Parts: sequence; C-alpha cells; structure tokens
Amino acid sequence: MRELLHETADLAADFLESLPERPVFPRVEVDELRARLGGPVPDRPTDPREVVRELAEAGDAGAVAIPSGRYFGFVIGGAVPAALAADWLTSAWDQNAGLYVAGPAASVVEEVAGEWLAELLGLPRGVSFAFVTGTQMAHATALAAARNEVLAREGWDVERDGLAGAPPIRVLTGEKAHSTLPRALRLIGLGTGSLVPVAVDDQGRMRLDALHEALASGDGPTILCAQAGEVNTGSFDPLGEIADAAAIAGAWLHVDGAFGLWAAASPRLAHLTAGAERADSWSTDGHKFLNVPYDSGIVFCARPEAHRRAMSVQAEYLVQSGEGGPRDQVDWTPEFSRRARGFPVYAAIRSLGRSGIADLVERCCDLAQRFADGVAEVPGVEVLNEVVLNQVLFRFDSDDRTTAKLGAVQRSGVAWMSGTTWDGLQAIRISVSNWQTTEEDIDRTIAEFAS
Ligand SMILES: Cc1ncc(COP(=O)(O)O)c(C=O)c1O
Repeated sequence: MRELLHETADLAADFLESLPERPVFPRVEVDELRARLGGPVPDRPTDPREVVRELAEAGDAGAVAIPSGRYFGFVIGGAVPAALAADWLTSAWDQNAGLYVAGPAASVVEEVAGEWLAELLGLPRGVSFAFVTGTQMAHATALAAARNEVLAREGWDVERDGLAGAPPIRVLTGEKAHSTLPRALRLIGLGTGSLVPVAVDDQGRMRLDALHEALASGDGPTILCAQAGEVNTGSFDPLGEIADAAAIAGAWLHVDGAFGLWAAASPRLAHLTAGAERADSWSTDGHKFLNVPYDSGIVFCARPEAHRRAMSVQAEYLVQSGEGGPRDQVDWTPEFSRRARGFPVYAAIRSLGRSGIADLVERCCDLAQRFADGVAEVPGVEVLNEVVLNQVLFRFDSDDRTTAKLGAVQRSGVAWMSGTTWDGLQAIRISVSNWQTTEEDIDRTIAEFAS
C-alpha cells in the first residue's frame, strides 16, 4: 500500500509539474480516449500499481489543465496545496461523514470550518450550514428549507402533505439567474412555472423598478433569489435594496453567491456584498475562489430550524446525537452517506488564513482587470462588462471573428476559456479564479488573442 501511494503521489506531482508546458486543453480525440480506457469488463484482477499507472497514463492524455494558471473557463478554481493534500487524506480515512459516530473528526472539522466560513463571508452568527457537492445542491437545500418555511407560514405542512394542493409559491429571480436555480426548483417540486423573471440591466443586475413591479403583481408565499456574481459579468444585484424589498414583502431571501460571496472576505471588495448578510439563506462554493478541489459547495441558512426540518432523517438503526450533541451532518445535508468534504475546506482556510483568502480574491480580480485593460487594446475588441470582480466579457467586431478567435486560442493550448452569448451576440468569457494565475499568464493570453 505504501509503495502504491508513493508512486501515485509521484504521478500526481508529475501532472502538476507539467502544467506550465502542457497544452491547457488536451490534444486528444474522444475515440482515442475510448479506445485507451474502454474494453470489456475485466475478467481477472489486475495489480493495483499497474491499474493506477495505466489510468494515469491514459487519464493524463485526456486531462484538462484546470489547475493551470491559464485555465479561464466557466468559473473554476484550482486547488491550494493544503486542500489538495487534505483531500487525499479524506480518501485514505474514508470516513462516512453523515453521522458523528461514523467520523468524529469529520463532524468536528465541519463544525469548525462552517463557522469559519460564515465569519469570513460576513454572515450572521449562528447560521446553520452544510457541505454539499456544489452550489447546485446548496440551492436545492436552501430552497427546500425556504419552500417549507413559506408554506408553514400559510399553515401548510409540506413535510407531511407534499405539494399537491398547497398554496402556490412565487419565486422571483433576475432574468440572468444562474441555470442551477431553475433546476433546483425542478428538483424540489416547485417547477420552473413558479418562476417570476425580473428584468435586469445591461450588466445582468436585477432592476429595482422591475422587482417592485413583480412583487406588487402577486401575493402569497414568496421566495426572492438575488445574485452575488453574475456568471458572465461578475455583477452584483443591489443586495441592500433587495433585502429591504424582501422584508416588506415577507419573502424568503436567498442569495446565489457561488463565487461572488467571496468578495465579502476582502476588505477592499466587501462593499459589493453589502446587504447579503440580511438574507435567509446563501449558496457558495469552495471549489471556486477558495481553490478547494471538487466537489465542494456550502449552503448557509439564517433559520436553522427550517433548514434542519427540511433535511433531517431518522431511522432505528442510526446512532444520532440529538439536540445539543455533536454534529450529525445528515441532519443538514440532502445526502445520507457522504464524503468528509469538510477536511479540504478546513485545510484551505488554515493554510491561507484570513489575509491569504483576501489576497487570493483580490489578486484574481486585479488580474481580471489587467486582462480587460490589455485585451481592450487588441484591434477590434470590445470589453462588454464593468470589471467589478474576476470576470471579463469581451468580443471581436463580429460574431464570426469572435468565434474564430476563441477557437484559435482554445486550439493553441496556451489558454482555455469558454464562449457565451450576451445580448444575442457571441462573446468570450474570462474567469480568473486560480491561485496560480500570474501577470505573465494574463499577458501571454492577451498576446494569443492579438496574434
Ligand atoms: C452564479 C453561479 N451560480 C451557480 C453556479 C453553479 O455552481 P456549481 O457548479 O458549484 O453547482 C455557478 C457556477 O459557475 C455560478 O457561477
């Protein structure tokens, strides 16, 4: 076992050391990967060292250099060393982090890391939390609590009676809400028919006049979802005014802060999230700005009882701590058996500290601004967003040129980023979310667009 793990550590280090030189997107075809990795079900056992060696070889050929400083796709962080190493320990320990009795250290680490996170993100004392796979499941968890609570206020017990015959719930979101929100509504049985889209401005921020109009146009149980960090522009909804409107309407306020909530961890950027602390629930990710390996999402709730009621589970054979006892994660998460995903979050926070996290977030944002300034000098380029955070949205002077340039840079292997559509036009998105990105990485990428 020791030899296997040492060898595996070397293979992992080989991959990480190859990042500066390897093409950011692998030069491999899907058929080649299928041929290398596929085949019939193996009849006989194979030596684990051989299995890992072969997997590393074939897997390496098809791996995207996501931990590289020149990966700018979607909103994807890298992995700071302590978090990566703690993630390995998590697998070696193989705790079932559903119950305290199946992993006492995992339970306590989640307790500690959850409280640290709430403080770093400027959330009120005493919020409940759960470590889930990502913001998608954080939304599903928070909105299940929201659904139950707004219906309970109408005298409807959704835990017992389900949704058939329940008073209809309206869910107000900006038109640029992330696609994981409507999916969460589908998962919790509200459906996308419950959505009331609210018009946004040219940066994707919810318009307050449209919000007031939407709130006034109906009544009954209401959930209002605001966004801290739009996925293309990085823009923030006007959170303070939205919190005011939610309070007057008696609506549950949920904030999608998948990456934008991390602005609160920087004294320089915290003003962007002002008002977020007044929400009822929040979703964010460890695998974006905090640079924790996948999968790492966190949900917080200012109404712990609603959160717990929506998630908790009992069975005769379960050994649960009960009120006031140690934390049983199963009471807060949608999963039953689960990975101890608090360890890498804990390690990331300990290794970076408050100042290191602020520095990481600010550095990413400064580099995004450097990219925007530099790419704006490239003939034919227009930067489409106000760079308030770590996202840059830009295009060339036609859709064809934009698509062609994006494809050429992706194929060059120098960097990778994704395209999008903004106001009906093709555009290119840059997300700087990696602790390893340097000014040189930014300048090389701009040069590639200029070539
Ligand atoms: C604003 C926003 N919300 C939600 C998500 C989904 O997060 P996850 O992939 O962790 O579920 C993203 C992902 O980029 C996002 O940017």
